[in-house]
Amino acid sequence: MISKLPASLILEGGNLYDPFSDTSVKANLLIHNGVIKQIGKVKPDKLAKVIDCTNKIITPGFIDIHAHFREPGREDKETLETGALAAMAGGFTTVCVMPNTDPPLDNPESIRYIIEKSADLPITIHPIGTITLGQKGEELAEIGEMVAAGAVAVSDDGLPVQNGQVFRYALEYAQKYNIPVINHAEDIPLRNDGVMNESAFSTRLGLPGNPDISESVMVFRDLELADYTGGRIHVPHVSTKRSVELIRRYKAKNIQVTAEVTPHHIGLTQEALREYDTHAKVAPPLRTKTDTEALIEGLLDGTIDCIATDHAPHTIEEKEMNFIHAPCGMIGLESAFALSHTVLRQAGASTEKVIQWLTSKPARIMNFPLNGIEENSPANLNIIDPEEEWEFKPEHIHSRSKNSPMLGMKFKGRIQQTISGKKSFKS
Ligand code: DOR
Repeated sequence: MISKLPASLILEGGNLYDPFSDTSVKANLLIHNGVIKQIGKVKPDKLAKVIDCTNKIITPGFIDIHAHFREPGREDKETLETGALAAMAGGFTTVCVMPNTDPPLDNPESIRYIIEKSADLPITIHPIGTITLGQKGEELAEIGEMVAAGAVAVSDDGLPVQNGQVFRYALEYAQKYNIPVINHAEDIPLRNDGVMNESAFSTRLGLPGNPDISESVMVFRDLELADYTGGRIHVPHVSTKRSVELIRRYKAKNIQVTAEVTPHHIGLTQEALREYDTHAKVAPPLRTKTDTEALIEGLLDGTIDCIATDHAPHTIEEKEMNFIHAPCGMIGLESAFALSHTVLRQAGASTEKVIQWLTSKPARIMNFPLNGIEENSPANLNIIDPEEEWEFKPEHIHSRSKNSPMLGMKFKGRIQQTISGKKSFKS
């Protein structure tokens, strides 16, 4: 639960990691009324609460550039408030929310609504505006006015901008504002109503397949358009080896492209659908081991810039429908760090690298300030035990929805406490 931080708090003996400069220092930290007052030698204070951080890493709070908080319209799945709680439980103190709400965030008023409604929450919420009006893929939304109101990017996520000409206009228009244009890359005709990765396995399960080329064909189009227009694209939830190869090729041409991968696309494969678990139904779908290996390789060599959750809450009733009709998406905020850390450490990445993919790397994509842990700045921190082994259980979920196929998984690495200003979440 979220609680009030003690007025004076000392974090003792931890390793402070600054992902922006990639440096670590062992130091104590004095937090007073939610503000970092001293780093290094901290005078003992009888009135202060002391947390022993020996063998723990202290990092800036994580940034998720891709989450669905369902407000307005589907508050039964998630509200800004319950989403903020799930975020804090997962170590995220900054979250960008996708605009596929009901109605969609396609105008400056709705952008202002999100900012005002979330002002008193313990995390910072940045809205993303739609690319097209009503996410219909036809007419551009007022991108400039939404940016002026506080939108940090534009996306029709959940739906692709299928029309190449519309996407070209979006790239040209958004250039003025230096924001990323995020296209959900799934070519609808090629997806062909598929509900899982197209493979021998989908045939065996008797489910319609969505081939990997439905993604890569659209990623290719978007890369070509970014190259042609000089626009800036961000490729969300990359799921296939083919897409990684294309992004690598175009990055070498120095076009403005960044990309993200979700914890579930690196940590799970289509095998998770063995028992027709609708919690593992997601768009784009979970793919094969060859794909997860390519995604991890992409992160390791910098082709993929960061990790983002695609936290997508849905009700139990909807997820209890049959596999064809259940909606796509899974929650991910609470398990994101631990799942990513478990998988990526096994692949040879350091804990610090995983932290970069959740802090400094997404900050650069969204033009957020690149602040580490500094005196006189608000406390915005995670205390992490990189070695703790634990099992992900229902009590670890704080989202209003419970649709996680990660339940029962064993993780290594745990966020012990998240501090955001005067608020704290302790696991
Ligand atoms: O699985 C998904 N669910 N993928 C998306 O892109 C959208 C999301 C949702 O909004 O439920």
